[in-house]
Amino acid sequence: MPYAHITGWGMSVPQKVMTNDDLSKIIDTNDEWIRDRTGIRQRHIASGTETTSSLGTDAAFKALKVAGLIPDDLDLIICSTSTPEYIFPATACLIQDRLGANKAGAFDLSAACSGFIYAMNMGAQSIRSGSVKTVLVIGTETLSRFVNWQDRSTCILFGDGAGAFILQASEKPGGIQGAVMHSDGSGGDYLSIPAGGSAHPASEITIHTGMHFIHMDGKEVYRFATRVMAHATTEVAEKSGWKVEDLSLIIPHQANSRIIDAAARALKLPLEKFMVNVDRYGNTSTASIPIATVEAIQNKRLKPGDKVVFVGFGAGLTWGALAAEWSGPLPSEHYITAEWYKPWARVRSILRRILRILDGIFFGRDA
Ligand code: UT7
Repeated sequence: MPYAHITGWGMSVPQKVMTNDDLSKIIDTNDEWIRDRTGIRQRHIASGTETTSSLGTDAAFKALKVAGLIPDDLDLIICSTSTPEYIFPATACLIQDRLGANKAGAFDLSAACSGFIYAMNMGAQSIRSGSVKTVLVIGTETLSRFVNWQDRSTCILFGDGAGAFILQASEKPGGIQGAVMHSDGSGGDYLSIPAGGSAHPASEITIHTGMHFIHMDGKEVYRFATRVMAHATTEVAEKSGWKVEDLSLIIPHQANSRIIDAAARALKLPLEKFMVNVDRYGNTSTASIPIATVEAIQNKRLKPGDKVVFVGFGAGLTWGALAAEWSGPLPSEHYITAEWYKPWARVRSILRRILRILDGIFFGRDA
């Protein structure tokens, strides 16, 4: 049975930064309150041209470059997002087209802030079963488009961004060791976007009442998060045959530094064992774990052989954790530059559209 190794990683955040002071100019809040209650100092906000798929594509190209792969090497693309560009087509398909990954299947996965854990586990299991060899897992969000900028209890928390991992099959032991996934739909009301789906399709009333925005009971989500983070970490470590003390690094979902502090206390581990960068990005939902991982690598906090646990929680309610022995890139001969591949993917996409039109003209549109 092949092992599933993490061999590439990349992140992308919008250029525009919004500080707490910037926020205090549009709503009744202040830097001190936000830093004390959440640890957040600033977040990145997408411009009009930056989208869930454009950020995801940028992160994916960087991950491919680290892994030394080209888009045609991909067998499967899983995009975890709560802010897809459309209900359908899947954002994963938009990214597949932007990459020019023409041999890959692509689908979206919806498990909110826990989504990257779920998506990694699905990708790893597809590799372990032998059905695919190379998987691109993306977590990408433009939460700023779903935030009510007049609701100070939510708009201060969220930011935009994307992260991506490449998973590859190898006979060499290591890589993903175990995962746990949990859900409790009875708490679904605590964090939701009530309208825009089939329960409440867009109407004058839903728009007028702000039902297309993120609604959250912060206190309940906080209570839930502090309960599950430590538990899921211990659970996945035990499932992987490890002790919590053996872990080199824990990369938690970046929602609130107080939640991470509480998890560290519950696990009786020093805070240095946790990667924390919520101060600079806010809560980027499913993108937060891969973004934190990329920064951990940049800061030399992860090296091959390290035992790492990724742990998250979010709307659903969902929570989960994934244990991995850190690998790094496998030997490769490819070297890609996004600058070259992006226009090439665009040309191929246009050619495909033209071919479909010509096919319709010459062979008719009847089935
Ligand atoms: O990915 C999962 C996403 N969600 C989460 O992780 C959220 C988890 N929850 C939290 O992080 C916290 O509950 C929050 C940071 C959202 C809120 O912190 P809190 O300590 O639970 O504050 P609170 O809602 O109880 O509000 C305390 C006070 C209230 O004033 P009064 O009633 O005591 O006078 C609020 O009106 O703080 C006020 N307040 C604010 N003041 C300044 C609420 N938001 C703000 C604000 N600026 N942005």
